[in-house]
Formats: sequence, C-alpha cells, structure tokens
Amino acid sequence: MKKIALAVTALAVTALALSACSNARTDAGAGGDASAAAGFAADATIGVALPDKTSENWVLAGDLFTKDLEAAGFKADVQYAPASNTVAEQQNQISAMITNGAKVIVIGAKDGKQLGTQLQQAADAGVKIIAYDRLLENSENVDYYVAFDNFKVGQLQGQALLDGLEARSGHGAPWNIELFSGSPDDANSAVFFNGALDVLQPKIDDGTLVVKSGQDEIAQTATQGWKAENAQSRMDSILTSTYSSDTLDGVLSPNDTLARAILTSVKQAGKDVATFTVTGQDSEVESVKSIMAGEQYSTINKDTTLLVEQTVKMIGELQQGEDAEVNDTEQYDNGVKVVPAYLLEPVIVTKENAAEAYANVPSLLEIVQAAQ
Ligand code: BGC
Repeated sequence: MKKIALAVTALAVTALALSACSNARTDAGAGGDASAAAGFAADATIGVALPDKTSENWVLAGDLFTKDLEAAGFKADVQYAPASNTVAEQQNQISAMITNGAKVIVIGAKDGKQLGTQLQQAADAGVKIIAYDRLLENSENVDYYVAFDNFKVGQLQGQALLDGLEARSGHGAPWNIELFSGSPDDANSAVFFNGALDVLQPKIDDGTLVVKSGQDEIAQTATQGWKAENAQSRMDSILTSTYSSDTLDGVLSPNDTLARAILTSVKQAGKDVATFTVTGQDSEVESVKSIMAGEQYSTINKDTTLLVEQTVKMIGELQQGEDAEVNDTEQYDNGVKVVPAYLLEPVIVTKENAAEAYANVPSLLEIVQAAQ
C-alpha cells in the first residue's frame, strides 16, 4: 500500500511538473474531447530499437511489436542492431527514427550507457523514450522503464540454486558453487547478480556454500556479450584449476544460453549432471527440454507476450496525451533519475511446476507434456 501511495504521489507531482513546464502537453485529466487531448496522431510511427539477438526473447519481441503496434493502429519501425558494431549501429538507428518522425521510441539497449546523445536528440524533438527490459543509464531523457522485475529474477535464481543443491547433490551442506553473471554493458546483469546474492550471500557467509575458485566479485564472473562460448571457456578453466579433486555441486547462471554452455563444459569434464544444479532464465526451447530431461535445474518465465502488450498499452496512453501507468517509482535509479517503471512478475520454473507455469504458452506446454 505504501508503495502504491508513494507511486501515486510521485505521479501526481510528475503530472503537475509536466503541465507547469510544458505547453506542448495537453491536460490528460480534463476528459472530454479525445482528439483535443491526444498526445500525437493515432496512426503515428513508433520506433522499436532492439539489441542483437542474444536470446530467443529478443527475436520474439521484434515480431510481437510489429504485430501489436499495427493492431493498435500505429506504424511500427522495428530495428535490430547487428551482432557486430552493435552500439554504433543502434545509435544510428535511433537517430534515424527521430529524424523520420517517430513519436515514441522503445529501446532494448545493447549498452544502456552509450545512448546519451540520441536520448537528448529525442527529448529535443519531443519524442518519448521507453526503456524496454534493460534500463537506459546516466540520462535525464528516459521517460519510462518496462520490464520484468529483474532483482526478483535474481532472487528466484538464488533460491532455485539452493533448492536444487539440496534436492540433487546427494549430500548435505557445504556445497561447492560457482557464480556467473551477464554482460557488463547490460544494466540488468548487476541487478540479476545482486538479487541472487541477496539470497546466496548469507549462505556463503555461514559456510553453507563455498565459491571454491574465490571468484565472487561481479567483474570476475562476467560473461562478455552474453556469449555462450565465453561462459563455456570460463567454466572449462575453473574446472581445470579448481575441481580436479573436489566436486562442483552447482552454478548460478543468469540465463538459459549460458546455463547450456555451462552444462556442456561440466559434461565434457565427466560430471553426472543429474547431481548438478544450474539455474537459468528466459524459458528457451532447448532449456525447457533440458529441464524436462533432468539436466538444467531451473529457468525463469518472463512472458514476452505480456511485456510487449504492456509496452503497447503504455504507448496508447501516451498517444491519448496521458502519463503512462507505472507501478514502481523507487527501484530503478539510472544514475541521474529514478525512472518510473512498470514491472511484471517473473515466475520460477522447474520440472515440478513446468506444466502450470507454461499453461498459457502453448509451444512450451507442448514440450512439457511430450516429456511427461
Ligand atoms: C535479458 C535477459 C537475457 C539477456 C541476454 C537481458 O537483458 O533481461 O532475459 O537473457 O539480456 O539476452
């Protein structure tokens, strides 16, 4: 309740400030004639700038944005940054969207710290910016953030690691674990890691968990570019340096792509993965299969369909000349401001609850049912 009250107060303050300093905005609260209150044309172009395709959710997001924006009457300009020269290409794509008259630009950033110039250009042109899934950092010119609750994702991963160790390792504490985090240029990586450590650190401190390599700082655990090969080679070298006689019981992996790379490495080293726990995120097809086969322990369901729907809903509110609805005005400080956010709830998935968790995702439910 307190959170909601604060959010409402903050929104009211924001609305007041906006109406006080901007005569370009129309008063959303006045009601009456919808066209008079419209923020921009109902068939305006909406830009969507997505990063390179480091996981299936990004591919799906692009398709859904095209479909949902057009169904809502907008023109969709959806662009992916190519895998090479990604930051510069994304900067160019966003500039072009502004020049071409987009009214809102949704950004899934490759590197959320490197778009300051483009965000300023957008603000100068009156273009609203919605950070999608990844926060845009160190800029005043970010209007909204829409994402699954990333800190919660990390907490769920930390708890799943503990549960898996208990259920699968075949022995009691202490358990030997290793920690992996995502790409350092993605603002989410630290949030996932901190969420996981919120659960794991007390267990490391009391000796329940041992990070045998000693690599427990985020910089030591990072996976540049979220690339599978980088996680696999780090796992290979830790296994060689640290686990020639000791057993590795589990690994905190921030997503599914990296979880499968870690499993490959561990299998190649001759470990029986039925007694090993690795976490994940994204509900990628191959990982759902792996979970059902008893290999990967957990993943997270962040239903991209819901996240895109929520984003398009916010764009609809902006089109009407209203502020977009948010449900968090405290958590996402981008270094310059706390960005008003709409956060969705992530869901942990293991073999036990997979059928229930994917009840509304037919393609994954089919995999689960085929394996049961
Ligand atoms: C997303 C994750 C994804 C990762 C790599 C993160 O920003 O939140 O879902 O696994 O990027 O693509």
